[in-house]
Amino acid sequence: MSYIEVDDPFYRVFHPRPAYLIVSGRDDDVNIMAASWVMPISEEPWTLGLALDRETYTYNLIKKYGEFTVNVVTDEDVDLVYYVGHVSKYEVDKIKEKNIPLSPSKHIKTPYYSKAIGYAECKVIKMIPIGEVDLVVGEVQAVYAKKDLFTRYGWDLRKTKILMQNIGRTFVTNSNTPIFIKK
Ligand SMILES: Cc1cc2nc3c(=O)[nH]c(=O)nc-3n(C[C@H](O)[C@H](O)[C@H](O)COP(=O)(O)O)c2cc1C
Repeated sequence: MSYIEVDDPFYRVFHPRPAYLIVSGRDDDVNIMAASWVMPISEEPWTLGLALDRETYTYNLIKKYGEFTVNVVTDEDVDLVYYVGHVSKYEVDKIKEKNIPLSPSKHIKTPYYSKAIGYAECKVIKMIPIGEVDLVVGEVQAVYAKKDLFTRYGWDLRKTKILMQNIGRTFVTNSNTPIFIKK
C-alpha cells in the first residue's frame, strides 16, 4: 500500500479519539467543554494530561482553581458534546442554557457531569505551555465508573458505546464485538 503525505490538520491521522467532557470551576462559576486530546500519563502517581487551548474559558478556571473533572460519555451525548465544544462560556453560560446536570465531587470542589458513565476528579500538578495549548497534568484523586457498565477488564463494550470524535462533525463509537487476543 502506498502512502500520501498528510497536510494540515496533521492530527486527523490520530483520530478518532474519545470525546470527553471537562468540567471546571466551582460554586457559581462552573463551566463545561468538550475535549478529545486527553490521555493517561503515569500510574505512580495516577495522572491524566489534557491539551487545553489557552483561549478557552475553561483554561482560566483550571488555572484559577487548579482542579477539573474528566467525564466519559456515550453516543447519547453527541449533541451535547458538539454544543459545549463549539460554544464558549465567554458567550453563553452553557450549563444554565442547556440545563446540564452536575453533581458534587468527593475530593475536589469542581463538580462532575451527572450523566457521565465514568469520571475522574483531578488536581493540577503542572501546566506546560506548548504552542497554543497548555498541557495540563492532573493528579487523579479518584475515578468512578457506572457499576453496570464496568468490569475488571474495563468497559463492557457489549453494553457501552463510548463516544469518539473523528473529525469536525463526525463522531463514531466502539463496535459491540471486542477483539480478544488469544493466550
Ligand atoms: C469533540 C471535541 C473535542 C475537543 N477537544 C478539545 C481539546 O482536547 N482541547 C481543547 O482545548 N479544546 C477542545 N475542543 C474545543 C473546546 O471544547 C471549545 O473551544 C470550547 O468551546 C471551549 O469552551 P469554553 O471557552 O467555555 O471553555 C474540542 C471540541 C470538540 C467538539
